[in-house]
Amino acid sequence: MKGSVILTDIDSFLSEEELQEIDAELEHVPYKSGAAIDALKIVQSKRGWISDESLAAIAKHLEMSIDELEGIATFYNLIYRRPVGKKVILFCDSVSCWICGCEKAKEKVSDVLKIGYGETTTDEKYTLLPVPCLGACDRAPVMMVGDELITNLDDAKIEATFNQASSREDF
Ligand code: FES
Repeated sequence: MKGSVILTDIDSFLSEEELQEIDAELEHVPYKSGAAIDALKIVQSKRGWISDESLAAIAKHLEMSIDELEGIATFYNLIYRRPVGKKVILFCDSVSCWICGCEKAKEKVSDVLKIGYGETTTDEKYTLLPVPCLGACDRAPVMMVGDELITNLDDAKIEATFNQASSREDF
């Protein structure tokens, strides 16, 4: 990948706090690359997403190739390689949710927020992403909005979710 990443200053790219948290994870794994996903999550939790520079710095710290770490980041769909909104909506489009009408619910979300999959609202509050089963099939269709699981989605619930959120101060 990304031959454009300039590696000259990559040693100082990660913060002390990030390095400390990554190093704490390294104590629990037999080899450095075993902490790859945790390291990606740590940096993403501080920066919101994993830029090319973050990826290169983590790879160097874990003594991995950038391509190797990119493969892990790409495979793991909760690692964001592009900037995302303040809250990510993880919308389940797996079988149980599909049977229970998730396509209609997704259309409603898109309609309310004016975004499709992979897009971020113009106010940068939300990014909408499809995900496989969220483990709440008995309450399908479901979505996660940030840390909140919202179940049995219908038009009223979707409208209430985003109307309430827009009037709160948690953005
Ligand atoms: Fe949607 Fe399991 S299929 S939560």
